[in-house]
Amino acid sequence: MAPEKDAQNPLVPTVGRIIKIIDETPDVKTFHVTTDHGKPFTPMPGQLAMLSLPAVGEGMFSVTWQGPEHLEFAIKKVGVLTEALHEAEEGQMVGVRGPYGNGFPIEMMKGKDLLFIGGGIGLAPVRSLINYCAEHRDEFGHMWIIYGARSPADLCFKEELFKNWPQIPNSRVDITVDKGDENWTGNEGFVPAFLEQLNPPPEGKVTITCGPPIMIKFVLQSLEKMNYKPEQIVTTLEMRMKCGIGKCGRCNLGSKYVCLDGPVFTLAELNQLPGEY
Ligand SMILES: Cc1cc2nc3c(=O)[nH]c(=O)nc-3n(C[C@H](O)[C@H](O)[C@H](O)COP(=O)(O)OP(=O)(O)OC[C@H]3O[C@@H](n4cnc5c(N)ncnc54)[C@H](O)[C@@H]3O)c2cc1C
Ligand code: FES
Repeated sequence: MAPEKDAQNPLVPTVGRIIKIIDETPDVKTFHVTTDHGKPFTPMPGQLAMLSLPAVGEGMFSVTWQGPEHLEFAIKKVGVLTEALHEAEEGQMVGVRGPYGNGFPIEMMKGKDLLFIGGGIGLAPVRSLINYCAEHRDEFGHMWIIYGARSPADLCFKEELFKNWPQIPNSRVDITVDKGDENWTGNEGFVPAFLEQLNPPPEGKVTITCGPPIMIKFVLQSLEKMNYKPEQIVTTLEMRMKCGIGKCGRCNLGSKYVCLDGPVFTLAELNQLPGEY
């Protein structure tokens, strides 16, 4: 049964509970969240939730994956709320409201080869799409995952990266780190340079990119250089958000609200929007 929500006020969160915490990297943890009534909601890949701690704050986070009874959030420690979440233990109550955002354009991706490009914690939303496509394998073409992080210790979701995803039929996984350690035998270098070196051809592909803004900027330039068309390039924007429901005006770009119309956009759509993003 779905948890009861305050029908009058969409800003009032449902009471959730952290049931599992996984250390991914020195500054990223994955939190499994449920409620007394089961999963808070059932999002599509790329959708988001607002998580809150009373007297601390509230923030928007991608749902990185889900089980029948829980949602998963991979959260990087950057400030007040995220530091408090990293201090939390299993059993801790959290506010949760959602789902928000448009999610990835699944229908447009069906039948296409998919090129996933992630950097650091930017793999969090992309992970939900990769796992969805693996579960609906017949509906999509070849899956090529390119992922990078600052160091081997900073690679998120290591079990999926090194074990599960390479076993997806008709798939390929390539990993790079900015700087390796004494055990690293893989590629060293930034994601955009690695992408150009691998040079996946654009024909029949949709590419999905998420990472730090500087990585996205250079990946988009690389893709255009490699003759990908703006319609083939999907990315997600990360702007400051407060309400998540199109009311506070924090996240608008021209006539679009990132919380309602995004955060997933094609480059063709972004090219129509004014200003910096
Ligand atoms: C659509 C969307 C999806 C997101 N998905 C994830 C996710 O899956 N995992 C994750 O770890 N984080 C995600 N974030 C970012 C997350 O919302 C912020 O890191 C978090 O709210 C910071 O809260 P804080 O109180 O810890 O930091 P604060 O104390 O508020 O700030 C600490 C630092 O982080 C910066 N910051 C805070 N919020 C943002 C933001 N929204 N964008 C850019 N910089 C910010 C501040 O400028 C400051 O430098 C997402 C944000 C958006 C908008
Ligand atoms: S976050 Fe309030 S309008 Fe988008």
